[in-house]
Amino acid sequence: MRKIDIFDTTLRDGEQAAGINLNTAEKIEIARQLEKLGVTIIEAGFPASSPGDFEAVQRIANTVKGSTVTGLARAMKSDIDRTWEALRQAAQPHIHVFLATSPIHMEHKLMKTPDQVVEIAVEAVKYAKKKFSLVQWSAEDAFRSDPEFLVRIINQVIQAGATTINVPDTVGYATPAEYGALFKYLKENVTGIDKVKLSAHCHDDLGMATANTIAAIENGADQVEGTINGLGERAGNVALEEIAVALHIRKDVYGFETGLNLQEIKRTSQLVSQLTGVVIQPNKAIVGKNAFAHESGIHQDGMLKNPETYEIITPALIGAAVEPLALGKHSGRHAFSDRAITMGFELSDEKLNAAFVEFKKLADRKKEITEDDLYVLFTNQQIQYKDSPVYKLTNVQIQYETEDAPTATVTAVLPSGESVTVSETGAGSVEAIFNTLEKLVKGKVHILDYRVTSISKGRDALAEAVVNLSIDDQVITGRDTAQDVLEASAKAYLNAINRQLVNEYVQEKEVIND
Ligand code: KIV
Ligand code: ZN
Repeated sequence: MRKIDIFDTTLRDGEQAAGINLNTAEKIEIARQLEKLGVTIIEAGFPASSPGDFEAVQRIANTVKGSTVTGLARAMKSDIDRTWEALRQAAQPHIHVFLATSPIHMEHKLMKTPDQVVEIAVEAVKYAKKKFSLVQWSAEDAFRSDPEFLVRIINQVIQAGATTINVPDTVGYATPAEYGALFKYLKENVTGIDKVKLSAHCHDDLGMATANTIAAIENGADQVEGTINGLGERAGNVALEEIAVALHIRKDVYGFETGLNLQEIKRTSQLVSQLTGVVIQPNKAIVGKNAFAHESGIHQDGMLKNPETYEIITPALIGAAVEPLALGKHSGRHAFSDRAITMGFELSDEKLNAAFVEFKKLADRKKEITEDDLYVLFTNQQIQYKDSPVYKLTNVQIQYETEDAPTATVTAVLPSGESVTVSETGAGSVEAIFNTLEKLVKGKVHILDYRVTSISKGRDALAEAVVNLSIDDQVITGRDTAQDVLEASAKAYLNAINRQLVNEYVQEKEVIND
């Protein structure tokens, strides 16, 4: 079977999606999980775009050794130099240089002639090649480019030293037949195309990203680029879990394999959803919570008689098998730490102890602690910063009567160590909490989005709140969990403020993350 390389861009194209802002510790956590999933390449960020991106790419390159780590760069020396600074310690330094090639981008965005674009691309690749052994070159908006011009520019960048050629459908405009035909055309017309890797990169604006990516593979693509859960700009990128499982389940038709450890899919998807705060639609293929749920009587009857009547993928294939026994308030430290190991967490004793304290508090209020609850407890510890300035919520109190405006009173410890109590009213209890917490923030806050979901099942389930807000026009997402929805909401709001503080802090000081 032909091997298709998986290039994951969750931390770059995925992170570009509206409202997503991951901090360095969270990006490292996702990168580690992508390594376990077995992706060939991790695009960890765009080092020249911000100090935060630079730091994340550098630290991921120093941490991850099982997957190649790359960074995005515009076709200019300063971007390539910055990317080299971030990646020089990587096990296998790889750079991803891009330049637009479609008439509309060349004329209106770059304001360059096609000849100038060829020259800039060739110069950039030659310059990158002096530093990096692996140079990927992308023709941004390739699908809307003139195919003859694509052949011309790709011929030249291959000669200049590119080792991978990426052909993106940047605006998600292609149909499967057209995108496949473009790959066939390039395979037939570009000199030396068989000596480089040919890569597909699809966006999902018309809902055809998965079909387009598969069409590219059928017509010669050696590598596919995408994100976990299909995160990304606008309608997102192709969802890598869909490609991997489609190729696996229909290997009889395709005959390709990705080498991904499919059993890590569910875990990777959950981690990305938890850390980005982007909820997965319930009917999402492969990883949606209803993807294996059979509701109608006829389907349930069929499933009982023979699961193959309605089930083409088993939950076990993606690591979503039946939950092990739930832990409860009588469970000891030993069972707790054993479960952390079985669930794949590597926590220091200090973090494991902190997670155990949270577990005991929760177990006093909740009868059974499920796998989903534990997942949240362990992940929260794994991504804790040390020594960074944060607000800590110590108390939240709501006074509510049907006839009166609710009042919230919040006590929090400030980054200076000082404890403050603030109080405010609002039209509803949540608004009262948000108005109260706003008093702790210096800038102007706007709430852009607010959601509460339950982590597990049952009336005592944990609540997860996600708040998307802007502080002085900077958009930040905060999230946190608690058994009470109001407490979860207050903690999520504070989490957003803390992220803002940590972002500022990261730019000044090396973050300690053991
Ligand atoms: O969609 C796109 O064209 C991109 C490039 C930077 C590769 O993300
Ligand atoms: Zn893209």
